Amino acid sequence: MEKLRLNPKWVSSLWLISVVFVLLFFIGASSEKTPDRYWDVVWYEPGKGGDINIDKLPCTDFRVIKSDEEQLEISFTRKWNISLRGSKAPLNVDKRFILRRGLSGFYYYAILEREKGWPDVDIDQTRIVFKLQQEMFHFMAITDDRQRIMPMMVDRESGQALDYPEAVLLTNPINKELRGEVDDKYQYSMENKDNKVHGWITTDDTPVGFWMISPSDEFRSGGPTSQDLTSHVGPIVINMFTSIHYGGKEINTEFRNGEAWKKVLGPSLVYLNSASSKDKTLTLWTDAKTQMDREVQQWPYNFINSEDFPKQDQRGSVFGQLKVNDRFISERLMDADSAYVGLAAPGDVGSFQIETKGYQFWTRTTKTGSFVIKNVRVGNYSLYAWVPGFIGNYQYQYNIIVMPGSKIDLKVIVYEPPRNGPTLWEIGIPDRSAAEFFIPDPNPTLMNKLFNNHPDKFRQYGLWERYGDLYRNRDLKYTIGVSDHTRDWNIGKKTYEGTTWQIIFQLESWKTGNYKLQLALASANGAEIQVRFNDADRANRALFSTGLIGKDNAIARHGIHGLYKLYTIDVPSSRLQKGNNTLYLTQSRHVGAFEGVMYDYIRLEGPTGN
Ligand SMILES: *[C@@H]1O[C@H](CO)[C@@H](O)[C@H](O)[C@H]1NC(C)=O
Ligand SMILES: *[C@@H]1O[C@H](CO)[C@@H](O)[C@H](O)[C@H]1NC(C)=O
Ligand SMILES: *[C@@H]1O[C@H](CO)[C@@H](O)[C@H](O)[C@H]1NC(C)=O
Repeated sequence: MEKLRLNPKWVSSLWLISVVFVLLFFIGASSEKTPDRYWDVVWYEPGKGGDINIDKLPCTDFRVIKSDEEQLEISFTRKWNISLRGSKAPLNVDKRFILRRGLSGFYYYAILEREKGWPDVDIDQTRIVFKLQQEMFHFMAITDDRQRIMPMMVDRESGQALDYPEAVLLTNPINKELRGEVDDKYQYSMENKDNKVHGWITTDDTPVGFWMISPSDEFRSGGPTSQDLTSHVGPIVINMFTSIHYGGKEINTEFRNGEAWKKVLGPSLVYLNSASSKDKTLTLWTDAKTQMDREVQQWPYNFINSEDFPKQDQRGSVFGQLKVNDRFISERLMDADSAYVGLAAPGDVGSFQIETKGYQFWTRTTKTGSFVIKNVRVGNYSLYAWVPGFIGNYQYQYNIIVMPGSKIDLKVIVYEPPRNGPTLWEIGIPDRSAAEFFIPDPNPTLMNKLFNNHPDKFRQYGLWERYGDLYRNRDLKYTIGVSDHTRDWNIGKKTYEGTTWQIIFQLESWKTGNYKLQLALASANGAEIQVRFNDADRANRALFSTGLIGKDNAIARHGIHGLYKLYTIDVPSSRLQKGNNTLYLTQSRHVGAFEGVMYDYIRLEGPTGN
């Protein structure tokens, strides 16, 4: 083994702590018993009975990549071969750690690789996890409005598991103030676009902070609003690279037919800071955010010593202006205000939300629809977009090939959202989230107090029961022109089997032709929505059924959305009448506790022509 040269000029106490962490990781690299930190891949070979394996990625080789006065980069590797089949995920692994002079913390990233011909594999999760000292770290911060004194792991163990083991009622916590609250790690999930800094602070006289900083989400999967775990009780700090938590098998990473693959996960930064007195505790969160901004400024890092991580001048950019053409709203092209525009692997329209193998590069447009996607890795992409306020997905008609230094100007590109005729009525806002609908109060004995009077009320535990409590003896009836979606349309969460929601609407005139129902779902989990007009009898064949859809589990995991789904449904005029009409939406499946859908938006369009 090569020797590490430690320059005394570098050494500060936090820096030493960083070194200790890296060394702990090194020990972890050669041992399978690594309870307080691990970097792993949850995998199985398809068709082999479904045994799920956890590969803690133990490495067999160690190399110093760079060691000088400014920087130390070390690499731990393992090469896969067929003798490891069944015991280790078919992946070559290169785990890297970087220490830089003057920075208290360390960078890390992994290069995972498959060679052509290797066995099929499904990868459910790829993550790095740190477990901190539970006696020391009590304060957790993941955003400005999601931070609090947290319960301890022992409190979860002494508590009462609720509808599933992750949700625990704290019956006897060490910190008595927390008694009666619910703890669940999924209440602390974040969307990729926001998952840039989170961590913990100790509660002693000279507090110390431990932070996970990820200046880019290019290596994450599923696009900017894909969600995953962050920090939670343990105290745990987690960086999820891929998982099926809010998408289910649809966002699994699957390799078939000996597909070769390589991807760099990271780099991210573990950042440590400290304050001189207890009353400065919260300055550590502010400082962590400042550090995050610094990292974002430096992205893409120029100090990464791997040819698999391209520097800025080896990357390209794509820019243009997105407009929307919906002649039923405006005769003129409209600016795509605050639209999401991104590059991801070529695929079907909307496929970025289940894409996990490549890199994704996203931005938001300005008010006028202008966008610049910077620092794009060389590659072959599709350009995808969606525009809050409009349904559906945009995809640019050509693939986009990014070369080193490319500056690709797409000029004006136009999205024509699905539209058949004029809006007769609509419910909600087409934004892929159910947040605008009525969110019931949680059961007062099952609350996380953090989410009282909080914009993220939907993260409270148990809202799936509250629909049933509110609508025990009747189903939801929504009358167009009278009801208000913020009050009268429930976010849904779990609805019981056979639940039918009614939308009552008047048609002033009736024309022959095809009406269209645009049905946009923010989430679906083991559900089936059947659509009937003016026919309450479930024994009759539905006009349309989604079939069994969704495994995104956003209901149980306190999301306000999972994967987006849009159905454009033909409604022959013969199903409608002048005057009073009723649309029946039936959720016809109920196998376990968390089946259901969350609606995003519903619109009835009149026929065009005649
Ligand atoms: C396969 O990998 C194992 C474990 O690392 C190693 O002991 C063995 O020598 C390798 N075999 C070949 C043919 O490289
Ligand atoms: C880009 O990817 C698409 C879809 O996989 C493929 O059809 C096309 O040939 C690729 N273009 C280049 C230049 O590799
Ligand atoms: C419209 O139809 C619904 C259900 O068929 C009924 O409950 C409601 O009273 C009717 N409204 C009017 C104005 O006729």
